[in-house]
Amino acid sequence: MVFDLDPALFQHIALDEAGSTNDEARRLALSGAAADCLVVTAVSQTKGRGRRGRVWISPPGNLHLSLLIRIDGQLAQAAQLGFAASVAVVDALTQLVPGVDFRCKWPNDVLADGRKCAGMLLEAIDSCWLVLGLGVDVVAAPPPDGLVYPVTSLAELGFAGSADQVMRAFVAAFLPRLAEWRRVGFVALRQPWLDRARGLGAQVVVRLDNETLCGTFLGLDADGALLLDQPGQPIRPVHAGDVFFPPV
Ligand code: BTN
Repeated sequence: MVFDLDPALFQHIALDEAGSTNDEARRLALSGAAADCLVVTAVSQTKGRGRRGRVWISPPGNLHLSLLIRIDGQLAQAAQLGFAASVAVVDALTQLVPGVDFRCKWPNDVLADGRKCAGMLLEAIDSCWLVLGLGVDVVAAPPPDGLVYPVTSLAELGFAGSADQVMRAFVAAFLPRLAEWRRVGFVALRQPWLDRARGLGAQVVVRLDNETLCGTFLGLDADGALLLDQPGQPIRPVHAGDVFFPPV
């Protein structure tokens, strides 16, 4: 499947190697040389990073992408774009890899048949830009040792295409979501994300920095916080943490 993207809608800088594409995007933004929706990709990263200080293993063949988005002071709302990106990744991968159940996992992961295949790292630059970093395990998943969740790659699921194909499908799915968010806000993303979510209405374990919570995943609040129903307690909005799905 080929996605024809209007080159006027986004610029693409393709690097062979980067420390982190998020850092490259930041550098371009601070130099004044970047335009809205600039896409930076690297074939491999030597210092790829994930959320919560984790390393993101970044071998050639996987997708390492950072998208620079103008947020013009909307710093508090910018994290909502992680939901737009998750929905876009699910839709792009569903078209590219038929027969696989792709789902959004709160806050910013994508699962393929229950295993993580993509993750996002959002970083703001002042209150002007958001760097949306996306890693998709196209050809190789990280080694499972030390990981607390199951992982897979698109290749393991039968995809024989390239990281570039995934990039194009993602950008084509993401840009209309970004436009909708700019027009009407999170209300445009909340239901599409919930429609693609893993574990809605089910028991989840949420690991915070200093606490582990168990309860029912009820949905998202108006800003994207996970709503957790714990027996005998008021419904708790969770703003940051790692979600696990206990075996049923
Ligand atoms: C996570 O799941 O923890 C987020 C992973 C984000 C990885 C991507 S790869 C492109 C961009 N550059 C980085 O250093 N990280 C993000």
